[in-house]
Amino acid sequence: MEFNFKNKICIVTGAGAGIGQASAVKFAQSGATVVINDLREDICKETLQLLSETGCEHYGIYGDISTAEVATRLVDETVQKYGRVDVLVNVAGIVLPGTIMTVTNEEFDRTFRINVMAPMMTCQRACIHMKEQGSGVMVVIASTAGILGVGNRLAYSTSKGALISMTKSIAADMAHTNVRINCICPGTVNTPSMERRFQAMPDPVEAKKKFLSRELNGRIGEPDEIAHAVLFAASSEVDYLNGSIITIDGGMTCCTQ
Ligand SMILES: NC(=O)c1ccc[n+]([C@@H]2O[C@H](COP(=O)([O-])OP(=O)(O)OC[C@H]3O[C@@H](n4cnc5c(N)ncnc54)[C@H](O)[C@@H]3O)[C@@H](O)[C@H]2O)c1
Repeated sequence: MEFNFKNKICIVTGAGAGIGQASAVKFAQSGATVVINDLREDICKETLQLLSETGCEHYGIYGDISTAEVATRLVDETVQKYGRVDVLVNVAGIVLPGTIMTVTNEEFDRTFRINVMAPMMTCQRACIHMKEQGSGVMVVIASTAGILGVGNRLAYSTSKGALISMTKSIAADMAHTNVRINCICPGTVNTPSMERRFQAMPDPVEAKKKFLSRELNGRIGEPDEIAHAVLFAASSEVDYLNGSIITIDGGMTCCTQ
């Protein structure tokens, strides 16, 4: 799929691996200047190599995006350096196990800080700059777990549901400003962290079989496929797409099978 982000300044959080890495690289291949964030620079070694191979202008602002300092600096420093911010993609997120019987306040709070508070803070800074410059688009990565209930993922599922509502509220708040936002809800995606979660399960082979049995296409998704959805949601060709919740899950949430 061909996209044109030439002369666009695009920020991607959680760009060190998986969906964030694939999105950052695809923006770079589409002509964008890419600003990446992850917890530390060493996590982004592979991403930086891939970005360099595209020949794009790129820059890293590292640190915990759930802190106000990093969230603010990510957007403000981008604008200071490049004069504007055209696209902000919030990918960074965590998944902790836990049911209503076992989740701790600390786990719930940490999940919300990273999965909800961080995108709220970066979007807030981006909205200020984008409104001033007269255009901009934001994308957040929620999950099908924010649409359906998921056992043993109470904090995660609840946080992704909040992100879906936040998308719609930001779209409403930014009405008539030419600043828009969309939300992507992936199903199960073949990323390093997903593989780590499989390996941490008592029987990884059985766990994978169980995940595959929910898939209408008999396979899980690839990070590149989600990255394509991200670029689609951010592209000017679909300026009319606003406040939308786009599931990309191989059909998992479309029926009860
Ligand atoms: N992989 C899946 O199956 C799947 C499915 C649905 C939704 N998602 C969502 O997609 C996003 C990316 O998931 P993934 O599996 O590609 O990658 P991932 O889980 O490995 O996380 C992406 C990156 O975020 C970074 N990160 C975590 N906390 C951070 C913080 N506080 N500050 C800065 N960076 C931080 C990590 O270091 C990592 O490199 C997440 O929000 C996840 O919830 C993933």
